[in-house]
Amino acid sequence: MSDSIFSKIESILEEIKSSTPSNAQELETFRIKYLGSKNILKGLFAHMKDIEPARKKDFGVLMNQLKTSAQEVFDAKSADIKKASRSQNATATDYTRPAYPEQVGSRHPVSIVMNHIVEVFQRIGFVVSEDREIEDDWHNFTAMNTPEDHPARDMQDTFYLTNSMEDLLRTHTSSVQSRVMTSTKPPIRIIAPGRVYRNETVSARSHCQFHQIEGLYIDQNVSFADMKQTLLYFAQEMYGAETKIRLRPSYFPFTEPSAEMDVWMGTDTEKTKKLTKGTGWLEVLGCGMVDPNVLKNCGIDPEIYSGFAFGIGIERSAMQKYDIGDIRMLFENDIRFLNQFQSAL
Ligand code: DAH
Repeated sequence: MSDSIFSKIESILEEIKSSTPSNAQELETFRIKYLGSKNILKGLFAHMKDIEPARKKDFGVLMNQLKTSAQEVFDAKSADIKKASRSQNATATDYTRPAYPEQVGSRHPVSIVMNHIVEVFQRIGFVVSEDREIEDDWHNFTAMNTPEDHPARDMQDTFYLTNSMEDLLRTHTSSVQSRVMTSTKPPIRIIAPGRVYRNETVSARSHCQFHQIEGLYIDQNVSFADMKQTLLYFAQEMYGAETKIRLRPSYFPFTEPSAEMDVWMGTDTEKTKKLTKGTGWLEVLGCGMVDPNVLKNCGIDPEIYSGFAFGIGIERSAMQKYDIGDIRMLFENDIRFLNQFQSAL
């Protein structure tokens, strides 16, 4: 009796060792047969009682061997199968798989507004002129008719970079005016977009960095009427063909006379009421006829040439256009915020 059991075990051991499950299904069949909860080894254990005492130990050893061999074959084959399926996946191309959606970036709201304004002025012959953000005192202030001790310097709190107060972060893009006028002969017709800095407390309404677009037009016989017509064109391109503007007298050191341009928004909605503080008029830019002193400082003869200039703040327009309540959001670069803006420009 014992002999037949022993030879049965031997033959099962052979069977296990020579098994070659080659795919997941065959491997599972193997597992159920030799390692599952109802595996055939368990049935063999029932014969323990029939084994003569002297051979019981051998029986145990052999049975253990069966179990270990089954586990070893299983482990080895399952590793082979996994590896094979991985390399198969790597080389096979699944042409039915949908394409990955392409991540399209979005333009920053400040860039959208700035590009739009630049484009409007380019249509009437203005050329983009960009210049440095680290400026010297002369180009930012002195040349622009704002010499030292001039009270107008207090209008713009400045970040100075050196103790001598010679270098600074430009407080306005008007510095590009002096850069261009000292290096180019009239006629000049430029638009200068860029970032500017002021030493101001950061809050929901103001920031220590923001963007402006400067405009400058110098030629013979340039008049205030030319300026008004140019700015009306700009306002109607930006805000709609029926848009009305008004010019309010103002003061800037570099222009004489100076004005601020308001655009009529009306008071029909809560939004426009709030935006215009109930007046219906929204302040959009500062402008004026270039002061003869500025022309002189930059080497242009004010007896021959005249011109107009203007400066447009970008952030306020962007905030108004997109209903952004806090200027700080424009500088935090939160992707969830930025993803919301789409533009062709
Ligand atoms: N530079 C002025 C500012 O930052 C804006 C400005 C006003 C620019 C009048 C001009 C101008 O060119 O003519 O507040």
